[in-house]
Amino acid sequence: MINPIFGKIAEQILSQSIAIKDDVLYSFVLDALAQEALTEYRQGEFKDAKFGKGIAKQRISEVRGDKVFWLNKVDASARLKTYWNWVEGLQDYLSEYFRIYLERTELHFAVYPIGAFYSPHVDQFRDQGNRVFSLILYLNKDWKPADGGQLRVYNDDGTFYDIQPIHGRVVCFRSDQILHEVLEANKPRISLTGWMRRDAFTL
Ligand code: OGA
Ligand code: MN
Repeated sequence: MINPIFGKIAEQILSQSIAIKDDVLYSFVLDALAQEALTEYRQGEFKDAKFGKGIAKQRISEVRGDKVFWLNKVDASARLKTYWNWVEGLQDYLSEYFRIYLERTELHFAVYPIGAFYSPHVDQFRDQGNRVFSLILYLNKDWKPADGGQLRVYNDDGTFYDIQPIHGRVVCFRSDQILHEVLEANKPRISLTGWMRRDAFTL
């Protein structure tokens, strides 16, 4: 049976290039994922996030202070596989809905330490169209507006609105369309971020 949330996400992306859905997973799954991220983080497994690849990297003047830990499905924990399966269900749904080929979804945990932010950017590298949809799951229990770390999304006319990075919220948007930034976090901010891509994995 197809998850009814997928249809809602697709409709929102169609009409406004971005979708927001709350409570997409059981709370205990979210808690386990947050715990997993923190465990890897404390063990020093996270790396400074990079801005792109090769030549593209030099041309992009983004500033970001988050640290990331790339994941792979083969070694994933049971909880992470639960989410990964949900993501692949969504990927298949969006692929059919938009009649677009999607090969895979890449995922990483991201931690913004206190004071970290990510300046305005678009997720698709300028010279490559491989990232089609961006997908972020927030894992921050009891997050308050004063904790910062909002996802700020810009409209075409330069106005913007802020999305709170609250526990169990998923944001999905067109990687080539949405200009966005992450405001400074006043508390460590955890997310599970991914991109649905057209291309296969290469080393
Ligand atoms: C990114 C990004 C937004 C967020 O990782 O490219 O923009 O809210 N993340 O974490
Ligand atoms: Mn981004």
